[in-house]
Amino acid sequence: MSKDFLRTAISAARQAGAVHKKYFNTKFKIRKKSTSFDLVTVADIEAEKKIVSVIKNNFKGHNFLCEENKYAPRESEYTWIIDPLDGTNNFASGLPIFSASVALAKKDQLIAGAVYDVTRDELFYAQKGKGAYLNGRKISVKKISNLQEALLITGFYYDRGREMFENLEKIKQFFLKRIIGLRRLGSAALDLCYVASGRAGGYWEFELSPWDFAAGALIVSEAGGKVTARHGEKFPLGKSPIVASNGLLHKKMLKIINS
Ligand code: IPD
Ligand code: CA
Ligand code: CA
Repeated sequence: MSKDFLRTAISAARQAGAVHKKYFNTKFKIRKKSTSFDLVTVADIEAEKKIVSVIKNNFKGHNFLCEENKYAPRESEYTWIIDPLDGTNNFASGLPIFSASVALAKKDQLIAGAVYDVTRDELFYAQKGKGAYLNGRKISVKKISNLQEALLITGFYYDRGREMFENLEKIKQFFLKRIIGLRRLGSAALDLCYVASGRAGGYWEFELSPWDFAAGALIVSEAGGKVTARHGEKFPLGKSPIVASNGLLHKKMLKIINS
């Protein structure tokens, strides 16, 4: 596989991080999308433009699946899946937990991905079959097999409907299993990278878009973990629930999530 794929993903994610840095904690306009919880800022828009231009400079005819804009389909088996700013609510509140996420799929297979957190200067990346890395250091999932040893992460989609209340019930069930703790950090891409790097044992969320999880899912798999849809099946590169773990906790997590 072309080394340039990963290099391009990394360069694009880093340059999006520079855009985040430029606007973070400054006065910028915040626009509401469909619901009052779903926001978009100038940083989302500018970072996406930057990422797309970096990729187009390297690869002319590829497809793009981006959060903020639609791009005309091309005759190519390659699709870049991009979240220019994952964690917009945190960003807009001045909370330094957000990232840029850039992934590349060949047909329906993820082959490269990079997630960059400019606030900590942490770059997570992976290439299919080549392992996962954080700032050049190989990472792997945490080898624990009991929920009692696990720090878990979850997230809530912007919808405040049935799925949110269902998740609150699941959280209760996880606490009854005496997990160490539960976090809701607000950037799905980073949540996944934290599973990959052993900072958390597992992560789940009931509805995500492909740009939220594409890069992170590859990074978890390449770090030795497991990522599936809600019932343990392969996740599509479309809207999907996502369950990610170190592998050893996966069945236990699925059992509670589907009980
Ligand atoms: C959101 C974040 C959040 C997750 C939401 C996502 P955005 O992405 O990843 O952690 O819980 O489901 O939509 O809107 O900040 O790019
Ligand atoms: Ca997102
Ligand atoms: Ca986003």
